[in-house]
Amino acid sequence: GITRHYKFDIKLQKVTRLCHTKTIVTVNGQFPGPRIIAREGDRVVVKVVNHVQNNISLHWHGIRQLRSGWADGPAYVTQCPIQTGQSYNYNFTITGQRGTLFWHAHISWLRSTLYGPIIILPKRNLPYPFTKPFKEVPIIFGEWWNVDTETIINQALRTGGAPNVSDAFNINGLPGPFYNCSAKDTFKLTVKPGKTYLLRLINAALNDELFFSIANHTLTVVEADAVYVKPFKTDIVLITPGQTTNVLLRTKHHFPNATFLMAARPYATGPATFDNSTTAGILEYARPNTSSPTISTKKLQLLRPTLPPFNDTSLATNFTKKLRSLSTTKFPANVPQAVDKHFFFTVGLGLNPCPKNQNCQGPNNTKLAASINNVSFIQPTTALLQAHFFRQPKGVYTTDFPTNPPLAFNYTGTPPNNTMVTNGTKVVVLPFNTRVQLVMQDTSILGAESHPLHLHGFNFFVIGQGFGNYDPKKDPAKFNLVDPAERNTVGVPSGGWVAIRFLADNPGVWFMHCHLEIHTSWGLKMAWIVLDGKRPNQKLPPPPSDLPKC
Ligand code: C2O
Repeated sequence: GITRHYKFDIKLQKVTRLCHTKTIVTVNGQFPGPRIIAREGDRVVVKVVNHVQNNISLHWHGIRQLRSGWADGPAYVTQCPIQTGQSYNYNFTITGQRGTLFWHAHISWLRSTLYGPIIILPKRNLPYPFTKPFKEVPIIFGEWWNVDTETIINQALRTGGAPNVSDAFNINGLPGPFYNCSAKDTFKLTVKPGKTYLLRLINAALNDELFFSIANHTLTVVEADAVYVKPFKTDIVLITPGQTTNVLLRTKHHFPNATFLMAARPYATGPATFDNSTTAGILEYARPNTSSPTISTKKLQLLRPTLPPFNDTSLATNFTKKLRSLSTTKFPANVPQAVDKHFFFTVGLGLNPCPKNQNCQGPNNTKLAASINNVSFIQPTTALLQAHFFRQPKGVYTTDFPTNPPLAFNYTGTPPNNTMVTNGTKVVVLPFNTRVQLVMQDTSILGAESHPLHLHGFNFFVIGQGFGNYDPKKDPAKFNLVDPAERNTVGVPSGGWVAIRFLADNPGVWFMHCHLEIHTSWGLKMAWIVLDGKRPNQKLPPPPSDLPKC
């Protein structure tokens, strides 16, 4: 591989959407941010220079960061943030991955404006295991607030209430025609007839899972989270925040008498943070230059896709179940066939007491929180990875993250009485090469919502999922250990569970959290420490000299 250099200048930029102008934090003045393009095996060096008042850190979501944990990016987990006027070189090699991922800010809510695609092409002369696309197009979904998102989250955390939902979803930064004052900000994809396009779908929205569809066109899913899957056709794609999905779009053979809308809107199981609006873009056929140059696109019929009802859980479940690793000799699914360590995590919302002399906006004067095994994660003030590497955990973290919830969990459909969480900065320590099985059970406390859990530093295999209580006696018999989907983000279904396996072959400190940003902010997060192995190539190297200090 070669080394690809990028320079990311973090600076302010005025941007107008929905007739509201605000100053946002950007990379190089772009919104959404620039693309990173590399090949499998390449080294990527991104020099990030912070010219704004906010502390910054960037995360390369889904990049495995094998033995390069110092470049992973979550603030106070693998690094202290980059302060005003400072810079940091994120330096990592892309090993064993090709497909679509994305980068985003990993501090507070700055990822609302700081995000962009990562495109990893296969090694030179290695073809895709599907039709060679005529063109490749990133389609990145985001959210837009008319006001500053840092203000929104800071106020929500202070008062303990829920933050306002966004004012619009967008496609490549453009909300599209269904919002007020937005028709001119519509993404348009111009295509030729009879060709195959590779659409690289990325959900960079903060708080919403999305259904996506294109009118009168069937899509073929070929990849999820930068892992090839067994191709399947679908009219609707479900994509949670943190997930990426590559689909093939085969255009019609003849110039159609219509233009087509592509559209996305939320999937939600409960109305808790219900945010029902639709972002749309246009799929337009380039008029053939030989014939009828006089057809005006204005006269063409505009066809809309049929998106499912917002709470169509059976559609969501069926879509997820269709995702299977390609699992060929060239692209094997290396599912751990045995388990060294079992974990059972309950994930969900909860409450914190209201500080004295304060009025809190959570239920019964409490503060909204979220937890894993009843532990709501408190962000440390120095980075976990440094504390671990230099063997100074004292006052930073403790290693007693519980393997199981404090009380045996029993999902009855109604929330349990004790919804208070405990707070702490707790981690799990894993010896090198531990084969981990983790079952995550949604508690459905307070809000019925599925939780897109994202694990840094690894891909995991989604070996099983179901609704109701996970049954350790019966459910493992149904696990798929042959060709399960391999990914970095999985939705824990509302009122259900998901089982994953991964091999802890990457030394470092690895964050795991709900990729709904509000749930992360409320504490639905934890970290795994993976110890060094014995051999030199199983150890985490020391930190780079420009690693930011707290
Ligand atoms: Cu895309 Cu820890 O995040």
